[in-house]
Amino acid sequence: MKEIVVAVTGASGALYAGRLLRALLSGGHGVHLVLSKYGRYLLREELGFRPDQETLTEFLIRLYGEEITAGTLREYSVADQSSAIASGSFDTDGMVIVPCSIKTLSGIAHGHAENLIERAADVVLKERRRLIMVVRETPLNLIHLRNMTAVTEAGAVVLPAMPAFYQQPQTFDDLGDFIAGRICSLLGIQHALFPRWTGSKASTEQ
Ligand SMILES: Cc1cc2nc3c(=O)[nH]c(=O)nc-3n(C[C@H](O)[C@H](O)[C@H](O)COP(=O)(O)O)c2cc1C
Repeated sequence: MKEIVVAVTGASGALYAGRLLRALLSGGHGVHLVLSKYGRYLLREELGFRPDQETLTEFLIRLYGEEITAGTLREYSVADQSSAIASGSFDTDGMVIVPCSIKTLSGIAHGHAENLIERAADVVLKERRRLIMVVRETPLNLIHLRNMTAVTEAGAVVLPAMPAFYQQPQTFDDLGDFIAGRICSLLGIQHALFPRWTGSKASTEQ
């Protein structure tokens, strides 16, 4: 089982975070979760999280069922730079920022380490562990593109929130699972979140 740091920042696409958390936790993995202020806001606005009435675990059970209790969920405050995940000596199997805002992308590209998300990402890069950044913005300006180049050169994987349609998605959850599945593959986690591409029908019919 893996130990994965998951950060949710203030970009649209809380669904992607939800589907990844469902996949990791129901698979029995350990999740170290950090929400930025706007990441929390978007969990409320887009996914219906009610922080005044429920804990994150209760929310995820309400959304996805008891199966998510197979894993362990630990939440950290974005303001707490003394947390375990702020240190390279705390061993994890990688970090995913999903969705990743342009502001957090910039902070990581420039090594600001201003909050726990930026610091944990900086640590993951310096320890040469897997960092996956699900950046979401459109259109992209030259600053965005240069920052994506900088984090890629530093070892991160930019996995834009760009679901595909060849697997014939029927629901929003299918779209979310496509991104969650691509993330799991990069983390070395087996999954069946979407049907694999096995070649075009046209080429097999010829
Ligand atoms: C409803 C809403 C949607 C947003 N969507 C995006 C987005 O898709 N991409 C992005 O880069 N920023 C988006 N933003 C702006 C970020 O939330 C803002 O830059 C924030 O400071 C990011 O901080 P964080 O990375 O610490 O969460 C959005 C803001 C709001 C209120």
